[in-house]
Amino acid sequence: MTMKQETLAMYERLKARLDRVVPDFELRLKAELAVEIEQLKRERNAVILGHNYMEPALYHSICDFTGDSLELSRRAAETDKDVIIFCGVKFMAETAKILSPNKTVLLPAQRAGCSLAAGITADDVRQLKRQFPGVPVVTYVNTYADVKAETDVCCTSGNAAEVVRALNSDAILFLPDEYLGRNVAHETGRAFHLATPGLTPAQLQRPCLIGWKARCEVHERFTVEDVTRAREHFPDVCVLAHPECPPEVIAQVDFAGSTMAMVRKVKESKAARFLLLTECSMGDNIIAENPDKEMVRMCSLRCPHMNEITMQDTLEALRQMRYVIEVPEDIRQRAHAAVARMIAIRGGTTGYAQK
Ligand code: 13P
Ligand code: SF4
Repeated sequence: MTMKQETLAMYERLKARLDRVVPDFELRLKAELAVEIEQLKRERNAVILGHNYMEPALYHSICDFTGDSLELSRRAAETDKDVIIFCGVKFMAETAKILSPNKTVLLPAQRAGCSLAAGITADDVRQLKRQFPGVPVVTYVNTYADVKAETDVCCTSGNAAEVVRALNSDAILFLPDEYLGRNVAHETGRAFHLATPGLTPAQLQRPCLIGWKARCEVHERFTVEDVTRAREHFPDVCVLAHPECPPEVIAQVDFAGSTMAMVRKVKESKAARFLLLTECSMGDNIIAENPDKEMVRMCSLRCPHMNEITMQDTLEALRQMRYVIEVPEDIRQRAHAAVARMIAIRGGTTGYAQK
């Protein structure tokens, strides 16, 4: 096929899937970019991993694999390609490097961070370990490599409860997302303590999780009113939420789970209408794959960090082989142990029904 034919075929593919979601002029532009990216991807022997929060045209054209943090870390560990382009945020690309140290891992935008990863340092974790000696440490993958290096086991939103159960300990440091911690404590029948400087091991109500005060700047903004308003207008609506949302919101929804668990739930559900309490690009990606289902558009919060990743930047990443993710080897090895333990724990991406 000539480049022109390939671009036309790509445009038609995108049009068939995204007609209701992306304007035509944008699809034409993105089809051209996608063909250039595909060509360079072959030349560089690269694989593109795309998080479920990527914008619809990118998500539906250039990604070899899409999924949640857990699914993508498994894919990163298994690939035989020389280069991994991570269309997601920095902590995800770092996890890929931790698992595949001999590959070149690229993140298309330098500013693709995360408020949770920025919310805790390795020093904070060392201080908590001194405060609660012998207490195992679970950290969410939404953390940087030096924090993972201080950790016993990592978890994602898709397997957090399984990881907590697998540890079989009556006190666990669960870091850094306060709301995920509170939601997992509820799900696993544990008390939740926020780690304050004066809290001592003797004061813990066991079994418990000891949490940290970081939050996702997107999911913390969803409210109970978002759910009640949607139910007033659409009594048959099925409400799904990410477990980074506040516990009082999670208590009101029909289903809570990782991004992948929500994708699967919409696909399998018999409901006709859905409200997603998570960042908004995912709703568009789901609509494109489920044309018979309707997404209620009452919330529209976009993660500013995921939004940094564009197709233009992905093309530049491949052209210039930028931005290379590096993790110092001593940190990588310790972080690897925590991530590998997580991957070895069965489960994930199932989510949990609230009602
Ligand atoms: P998932 O692991 O559920 O995809 O979540 C990642 C994330 O950053 C949610 O805000
Ligand atoms: Fe981080 Fe929240 Fe963005 Fe996910 S949605 S990457 S947790 S800031």
